[in-house]
Amino acid sequence: MIADADIIAAYNRHDITVAGVAVDLGISERQLQRRIKRISNGPDADKISQRPRASRGGTNTAPVNQSEPAPVDQSDEVDRLKKQIADLHSRQTIHAHDFYDKSEPIGIVSDTHLGSNYCYLELLEAAYDVFLDNGVRAVYHCGDLLDGENMYRGQVYEISHHGADEQVKLCVDEYPSRDGITTHFITGNHDQSFYKRSGVDVGKLIDSARPDMNYLGPDQAMIEIGNDKPWRLMIMHPSGGTAYAISYKAQKAIESLSGGRKPNVLALGHYHKADFLPACRNVCGIQAGCFQRQTPYMATKPTPAHLGFWILDPTVNPSKLVSRFAGEFFAGYEDAI
Ligand SMILES: [Fe+2]
Repeated sequence: MIADADIIAAYNRHDITVAGVAVDLGISERQLQRRIKRISNGPDADKISQRPRASRGGTNTAPVNQSEPAPVDQSDEVDRLKKQIADLHSRQTIHAHDFYDKSEPIGIVSDTHLGSNYCYLELLEAAYDVFLDNGVRAVYHCGDLLDGENMYRGQVYEISHHGADEQVKLCVDEYPSRDGITTHFITGNHDQSFYKRSGVDVGKLIDSARPDMNYLGPDQAMIEIGNDKPWRLMIMHPSGGTAYAISYKAQKAIESLSGGRKPNVLALGHYHKADFLPACRNVCGIQAGCFQRQTPYMATKPTPAHLGFWILDPTVNPSKLVSRFAGEFFAGYEDAI
């Protein structure tokens, strides 16, 4: 049972539709409306802020979107992020990839949004060519492989492939494949739109159809890389809108990690931004960039899409502690590749 306070906090966010709030909470829109009605008749009635009429399903021409990175009030977003990370910790699994002797480059990608008209598949192909040329054997994807469905009003007109079957097939058929490269991935909120509506975990379907794609679970994964004393990479797909300062959400995500459970590197998807924080609470924070061109919604904010990907090349000292991170961002441009 979702607490009234959580219902109120979610409902009071006016940057997303009521339907989007329901998806976010994992309940139906009807259930949400029933809860709001009940709260409105109780002592917390004054805590519910009035939604603009248009966003209740009228002829709203203002863009509404729960998934695109739009600037929003930061205090609410920080609380939301902290709650999400606390929840992630409670169901954390550690995956071990023991293939390092000394150092080896790894690839970081995110937010490919296959199925969207704005998916930049050519850039993704180029990225895997770069990985191959640079000796990358493991690529970590920070979520939103697919564009999903019903994420915001009007999304149906912005996607080329409809439904879980079509989008999974697109990914299985078209996601780049290179000999010797495995893509380890988590699912993000767009991927999980299918799960929230019909219980379909697209991560499992893709994993079972593509031997070179390894599903690490929803939202986040901790990976231990190395043999004796491995270093830890956490990949994460948070929720909520982007902040006015590009690095803000990464900083807050790192600050929210519990002491003793921090990774050496935290790679964040979702915000469609690229950023590098070398030492925040001794964590190297990376925002992974994206492979979805700036959507019309993002252009109206305006907030940019940072197209591109990373190669990290950690160097491990003789005692197997991480001593150096080299991070290189490869920026993608719409007309150049
Ligand atoms: Fe995304």
